[in-house]
Amino acid sequence: ELNAEEFIEQEVQKIKEQVGDQKVLCALSGGVDSSVAAALVHKAIGDQLTCIFVDHGLLRKNEADQVMEVFAEDFHMNIIKVDAKNRFLSKLAGVTDPEQKRKIIGNEFIYVFDDEAAKLEDIGFLAQGTVYTDIMESGTDGSKIIKSHHNVGGLPEEMEFELIEPLKTLFKQQVRAVGTALGIPDHIVWRQPFPGPGLGIRVLGEVTEEKLEIVRESDAILREEIAKAGLDREIWQYFTILPNIRSVGVKDGGRSYVHTVGIRAVNSVDGVTSDWARIPWDVLEKISSRIVTEIEEVNRVVYDVTSKPPSTIEWE
Ligand code: XMP
Repeated sequence: ELNAEEFIEQEVQKIKEQVGDQKVLCALSGGVDSSVAAALVHKAIGDQLTCIFVDHGLLRKNEADQVMEVFAEDFHMNIIKVDAKNRFLSKLAGVTDPEQKRKIIGNEFIYVFDDEAAKLEDIGFLAQGTVYTDIMESGTDGSKIIKSHHNVGGLPEEMEFELIEPLKTLFKQQVRAVGTALGIPDHIVWRQPFPGPGLGIRVLGEVTEEKLEIVRESDAILREEIAKAGLDREIWQYFTILPNIRSVGVKDGGRSYVHTVGIRAVNSVDGVTSDWARIPWDVLEKISSRIVTEIEEVNRVVYDVTSKPPSTIEWE
């Protein structure tokens, strides 16, 4: 049992003592961990903290604006938002291999962060949202790497900062409790997991702006309907993917030959294994009909009914 208020008070005190009058940098992704870490450090040292938020153009609909609204406008944090969409898309042009896409996105993230960090002076510390499970998972259990995971926040080795990791003893549920106690709204504290490479691995094959738009819009429809049905805290993770196949259909009385959208919804404890979520059929029907009606370039919706293993949660 964690007393969130007491934890916050203790950590604020520790951070103040550790940092003194120096400056702290933080990579804010809008995910639960980095958001709570940033808010906690901000509570301790206010304007001595600068956050860098890299918008790689692979975020979900309205996500970047929401992050800025909460942390820049409401919390008054110093946030440098980097609009790096073109940089990422041009690096991804023509690339179809999933692992190569992951590597490009992960590396580019580091370059962009690095470029911004280099413009700042006198940074002594780096705050990170490392949680207890991150530390456990990096242990040497000899498990095979299925996919390379690039978490937003990975940093080049030559950067010499001292680390501040105030959440490293906490489990996810405790991080959420601390986030709520710090006044972070539910849509961030209860956010579902979202991969560092973002929508870049949910558009299968080559990533283009047009394809991203389809996945972004269909995902927004899915999330809206799941929330309306009151299932947003029931299902562990849910999203749409673009398998990059076209099929024949009839739309507006004529032949169409456009994209298929896949719905992926899973229940899991830690992402290591998962079972596909049984979304009620009437909810699926609503989602499907909205997607094909509202998105011109889609005439078919399919539902992924596989567990992990043998599949993975993401399709790439
Ligand atoms: P997979 O697809 O490996 O996903 O079954 C397991 C969980 O991890 C998330 N995921 C990632 N998270 N960086 C992340 O921070 C990544 O590169 C990444 N790839 C997958 C995925 O969304 C699921 O929750």
